[in-house]
Amino acid sequence: MKLFIDTADVAQIKEAWSWGIIDGVTTNPTHVMKTGRRPEDVYREILALVDGPVSLETIATDAAGIVAEGRALARLGPNVVVKVPVIREGLKAVKALSAEGIKTNVTLNFSPLQALLAAKCGATYISPFVGRLDAAGHVGMDLVRQIRTIYDNYDYPTQILTAAVRHPEHVLQAALAGSDVCTMFFDVLKQLYDHPMTDLGLDIFLKDWAKATSQAK
Ligand code: E4P
Repeated sequence: MKLFIDTADVAQIKEAWSWGIIDGVTTNPTHVMKTGRRPEDVYREILALVDGPVSLETIATDAAGIVAEGRALARLGPNVVVKVPVIREGLKAVKALSAEGIKTNVTLNFSPLQALLAAKCGATYISPFVGRLDAAGHVGMDLVRQIRTIYDNYDYPTQILTAAVRHPEHVLQAALAGSDVCTMFFDVLKQLYDHPMTDLGLDIFLKDWAKATSQAK
């Protein structure tokens, strides 16, 4: 499963990229707002750092406007993925952008039928928001499982990009469900490394090694 970092914070992207486990980046208007910087400056910096797919979101809500924004975003770099909301006008735009060879990430996905429509329009990625569904009283990961079944039934090449991830258990469940990608915050990425028994075991090994080397004749 590919791992993406879900942020527009360049320092976090730089740090996570250096770990060698990240395949791409997803941004959204909220992430960009939190940086307090001009979107285009942030985008250019991210694109200069990362050679995997970088999702940049469109703001227009009509198909023509989304297509125009998508084309402009795609010109920023060969690895740009144009993020489009799963509304009717959005999917019209996805169909047009896909026909031009521009990669798309259909976002704000909360139902399996929305995901079916996105695949029919040639979306590169579909982003089910599992954490937001959990918060609304659903089992968010059921959506990922349903999309996996639908896409496998009909051989749709659209990749499932599990999003709105809140903790490592979501990442595990996404991997078990056959999600192609999982995007997460910097803190969740860091947590993927952690296990108290690893820390404990390492501590014992280091102490024993120190003893072994000090007592050696
Ligand atoms: C994914 O691409 C989105 O940026 C992200 O996961 C949004 O989810 P959240 O704002 O609920 O965390």
